[in-house]
Amino acid sequence: MVQKTTTGAKTPRRHFFARKSVEQILAEHDRGEGVKFARALGPVSLTALGIGGIIGAGIFVLTGTVAANSAGPGVALSFALAGLACAFVALCYAELAALIPVAGSAYTYTYATLGELFAWIIGWDLVLEYGLGAATVAVGWAGYFNRVLNGLGIVLPPQWTTAMFADPGHAGGGGYFNVPAALVVLALSALLARGTRESSQFNNFIVLVKLAVVLIVIGFGAFHVDMAHWTPFVPENTGEFGHFGWSGVLRGASIVFFSYIGFDAVSTAAQEAKLPQRDVPVGIIGSLLICTILFIAVAAVATGVVSYTTLNVPDPIAVAMDATGASWMAWIVKIGALAGLTTVILALLFGQTRVFYSMAHDGLLPPIFARLHRSWGTPAISQMVVGVLVAIAAGLFPIAILGEMVSIGTLSAFALVCGAVIYLRRKSPDLHRPFRAPGIPVVPIIGIFSCFGLMAALPIETWIRLFVWMAIGLAFYYCYGSLRTRRG
Ligand code: ALA
Repeated sequence: MVQKTTTGAKTPRRHFFARKSVEQILAEHDRGEGVKFARALGPVSLTALGIGGIIGAGIFVLTGTVAANSAGPGVALSFALAGLACAFVALCYAELAALIPVAGSAYTYTYATLGELFAWIIGWDLVLEYGLGAATVAVGWAGYFNRVLNGLGIVLPPQWTTAMFADPGHAGGGGYFNVPAALVVLALSALLARGTRESSQFNNFIVLVKLAVVLIVIGFGAFHVDMAHWTPFVPENTGEFGHFGWSGVLRGASIVFFSYIGFDAVSTAAQEAKLPQRDVPVGIIGSLLICTILFIAVAAVATGVVSYTTLNVPDPIAVAMDATGASWMAWIVKIGALAGLTTVILALLFGQTRVFYSMAHDGLLPPIFARLHRSWGTPAISQMVVGVLVAIAAGLFPIAILGEMVSIGTLSAFALVCGAVIYLRRKSPDLHRPFRAPGIPVVPIIGIFSCFGLMAALPIETWIRLFVWMAIGLAFYYCYGSLRTRRG
């Protein structure tokens, strides 16, 4: 890395554990931004922001995948387990978000605590959370989109709506390229590059639509539950780890963990909160709590209305509603899911370029990622580069593989966030912490163990992909770092 001395001169010295202090980050931010955000968001808006980011492909698609492949009706327990794990992480996030209320991302927190190398690792992990997350939701979007077209009598060639890759034990694969999934990513990237950010009112409206759809599914579906579909609630293990039985519930938790991703997005709005110290923790924990209850209820209803074996489809919630005999319900779900998933893709694509922006600003990525378009004021080139890469991933891979990669990447980032809380409490016990996570160090330690526990339940192939991804990331870090050093 290139360090700046107090006089601003650059010294070409690499120091993997170089770190900025929390005070330095806050001061840099105040100097650099020059813009004061309007403090317009209260606890309700922040909770809505969190719910808007959370409800997406996880509940609308992965519920079915996990029920059919791993846990049966026990998918409701998987949601409960994953929600519990997230609760510990959310408390840690809340402490850091209130302490460092600047474009708060796990990347910034790690830079402030564990240093550059760990910050890079987190940044690289966040590509899995945001970039591949966007690809995952886009595949979910395309699934619902195709079903809507089918309902209108339009059938696209299956090779061009199906991913090329699949691996044993996963649905999907066998096509050429999932064109609708790639196209939606490219279209939304162009929109973001052009600077058309959805207004907060529009976002709130979509959040209401999503919430309404979820509540209607729960309320309507509850009257059509057939207890026979819940018996046995946890189908017997097939003899293989993760295929039904309690190991299936655990594996299911590690996959549906994807559904909860997004509560951390509340931390990015810390500067716009009326009272960040109070409102951000309320937004993070409140949205997580509400979504946990909704998810458990949707999973229970979906597996109670139809047999879990029929849910391995791109639009399982619509299929469950169809089975009630009220096909208008299936339409409500499809339209609601399409609208709801669109805003999640937007948020994830947006988040990815902002993380890249911070990394490029710190010299960890080429400066092009920190360049803003002169008239649009957005990182347009970065947005399009990210858009093309995400579109390729969305076109080639099925949702199960993508979702697992997102889960493992995000879980490792979350574990580091918990570690950062413990580290900072020891190193700088006197920092003013507007929100203090309770039960330190027990809560972050349980958070770390929960993350590793969920990671451990993921298939070995996912671990191998994670190691390959990390090896590529570290190779880039060292090569790019030494290039910068030579230039320096
Ligand atoms: N939690 C978000 C979703 O399920 C990422 O789509």
